[in-house]
Amino acid sequence: MFNEGNFEKMSEYIYRKRGIYLELEKHYDKIEKYINNRAQELELDNFRKYFFLLRFDDKDGTEFQALMNAVTVNETYFFREHEQFEVLVNHVLPQLHKIRPSDEPIRILSAPCSTGEEPYSMVLYLLEEAGLIEERDIEIIGIDIDSNVIKKAQDGKFSERSVHAIPPGQVAKYFKKSSFSYTLIEDLIGTVEFKVVNIFDRAEIRDLGKFDVIFSRNMLIYFDDASKKEVAMNFYDMLRPEGYVFLGHAEYMSRIVSVFKAKKFENCLIYQK
Ligand SMILES: C[S@@+](CC[C@H](N)C(=O)[O-])C[C@H]1O[C@@H](n2cnc3c(N)ncnc32)[C@H](O)[C@@H]1O
Repeated sequence: MFNEGNFEKMSEYIYRKRGIYLELEKHYDKIEKYINNRAQELELDNFRKYFFLLRFDDKDGTEFQALMNAVTVNETYFFREHEQFEVLVNHVLPQLHKIRPSDEPIRILSAPCSTGEEPYSMVLYLLEEAGLIEERDIEIIGIDIDSNVIKKAQDGKFSERSVHAIPPGQVAKYFKKSSFSYTLIEDLIGTVEFKVVNIFDRAEIRDLGKFDVIFSRNMLIYFDDASKKEVAMNFYDMLRPEGYVFLGHAEYMSRIVSVFKAKKFENCLIYQK
């Protein structure tokens, strides 16, 4: 029932609403499978009826949210690209601690956070490597467009694969192991605030307030050039003066916008406002 013409319509609609650019070669099979299943569940016998429902009959947006949850790539794990967490706790946070008024929290955003491993990696690094948390209030917020991953992040329950890069001593210290999962100890659950937010939605991101550090790793690679630029400028507006952006290893701010200064550390390039 689904064909390439339908894919083009669907991808154009998703692009207009969310800025996510789906490519025929990469995403066709996933979208086809999802829509065929969903149409069957809803007892709709062709794509046109499903597309109509999505555009005009989805008043509370749940159908569109479910579609977005199906197309997002949520791959993540604790301590991914660990050099960046080292630079965060050993260089960036101590420097911000010096220049920010002592009564103000330092605010860090993980955008996107997927199932929570990235912002919780920051918490573990802070606990292990820096005495800073005794002197300074540090707020960590994780956002993602996918409501399923945000729910998982809030539960604080992770797979074996997800914790594989954490040193065993820290796994034992910070997680409760049961047969198939690792759950964060109670003291740590809630140390990160999680929210469903679309990074293109100006009203939603304005509500988050200003940040000192933004981690945005492995999301921009899914966007086209215009959307990358829009998000990079959103980050610029969301940052306080001299705030920092961390991108994934395959992402370069210099290829997107020129408003940030690049700062080089061993194995790690970061960007400052
Ligand atoms: C591959 S994960 C990256 C997770 C983590 N930052 C890391 O590097 O391990 C990409 C995430 O981007 C999220 N995402 C995609 N488009 C988004 C948007 N417009 N706003 C917020 N999150 C988005 C997806 O839902 C997915 O969970």
